[in-house]
Order: sequence, then C-alpha cells, then structure tokens
Amino acid sequence: MHTGTLYGVGVGPGDPDLITIKGVKVLNSVDVIFAASSSKNNYSQAVNIISTHLKKDIPINILKFPMTRERKILENAWHHNAKQIIKTLKDGKDAAFLTLGDPLTYSTFGYIMKSIKSLYSEAVIKIIPGITAFNAATACIKRELVEAEESFAVVSGACGPEKLKNVIEHVDSVVVLKVYRKYREILSVIDEMGLSSASVLVSNCTTDREMIVNDLNEGVDFQPGYFSLLLIRKKWLNE
Ligand SMILES: C[S@@+](CC[C@H](N)C(=O)[O-])C[C@H]1O[C@@H](n2cnc3c(N)ncnc32)[C@H](O)[C@@H]1O
Repeated sequence: MHTGTLYGVGVGPGDPDLITIKGVKVLNSVDVIFAASSSKNNYSQAVNIISTHLKKDIPINILKFPMTRERKILENAWHHNAKQIIKTLKDGKDAAFLTLGDPLTYSTFGYIMKSIKSLYSEAVIKIIPGITAFNAATACIKRELVEAEESFAVVSGACGPEKLKNVIEHVDSVVVLKVYRKYREILSVIDEMGLSSASVLVSNCTTDREMIVNDLNEGVDFQPGYFSLLLIRKKWLNE
C-alpha cells in the first residue's frame, strides 16, 4: 500500500518572497500541511508566510508545542505530534511540516523527524532547505560575515556567557541566535572582549518590523524580542 512522504519545508526568515520555488511547489503538491504553534494559541508565523503561495485549499493542521525546557514535557509533545503525522503518512497522504528559516537549523522539525524515525523507521522524509535568519540578517545589514580564510560559528544565546566567550575567541565571526533570554549577559561578554562596535543586533529581519541596532551601547535598557540575533565580526572593529 502507498504511504505518504513527509517534507520538512523551510519557509525562510519572514518575507514570503524568501521561500524557495521548490518549497512552494512542494506545498502545493501535498495533501496536508503541518505547522507548529505554542500550546497557548494557534498562531504560526510560518503559515502566514506561505498563505499567499497556496493555489488550492490544503488542510493546515496546527500542532501544539509547549514553550518549556522540561525535557519530559517536550518529549511527550514530540511523540504525540509525530504520531499524528505518521497517521497521515500511513493513510497514503503526502504532508509538509513548515519551519521558519531552515528545517535543520535549530528547529522543532529536527525533534519531530527523530521521533517519527524512532516510531516508524520506514517513513519517507525529504527536506527542502530554507534561507536561515542569519543569512537574511547579513543581507539586511549588507555586510560580509566571512571572507577568504576566515571562519564563523553559529551559537545559541542560551548557552551562557562562558561558552560564548570561548567560541568568540576561536573564530573570526559569530552569529548568536536566541539572544533574547540572556541578552544582558551576552552584551557583557561582548563589551568585555572589546567587540561592541563590531556587533550588530538584527530583529524581525525581512518583515515590516525589521530593526537594526548598530551601537549596542546605545539604549542599554533595550530588550530584544524572540526574533532577534547578533552578528559579530572582529574585522568590523577596523571598518
Ligand atoms: C529556534 S531558532 C530558529 C532558526 C531558524 N530555523 C533558521 O534557520 O533561521 C529561533 C531564532 O532564530 C532567530 N530568528 C528567526 N527568525 C528571525 C528573524 N526574522 N530576524 C532575526 N532573528 C530571527 C532568532 O535568534 C530566534 O531566537
């Protein structure tokens, strides 16, 4: 019996024009679209992004994921949502799971994919990559992140100041995602390393709420929201 294919589709950083042509083709070919929301509401920014691209009525199924760091609660949600997707695939339907940015870069899709594989090893899964938030952010500030023999690292702001400092010491450029929670501590590390003027904060890039903060010492009370990242390049100290 025919079983469906699951596509992990990256929908890009926010601007609906920044999804790939292949992503749009896949979305218009599947039987069901899955998207993630917090367990507190039904909102999905990824659904907003794709809505203008859908040429037919495709059922959109919002899967709830709790905003917690408690592993057991998260695992239960991944497992529960994976089972819903597996049922769709076993019914012979193709499905897409939407992800902001790229599906395999700090994404719920990664956990869902692992749960699906553990429960249903024959599942057919394909990935349609997306433009990451940091690719979009460098385009937005129109500055190169790396060139020639330079190297760069992508870190989570949740990793804490010591790890961040260690990473910055070893590479030429650093992208810090998820900066909102430990923003003050991250700023202290950057300041301590003399890199404030080599760092740029970008929030909500490619959307109508896009904001760029070039001078991190300005507006010390400013608190960035969830869709914010930092770009740091040592070479910018001399520009
Ligand atoms: C869970 S990660 C998702 C990354 C995403 N999968 C990607 O490929 O870009 C969420 C973090 O990505 C960053 N982010 C996502 N969209 C953004 C945007 N439009 N502008 C700035 N940062 C963004 C923020 O740092 C946010 O905390």
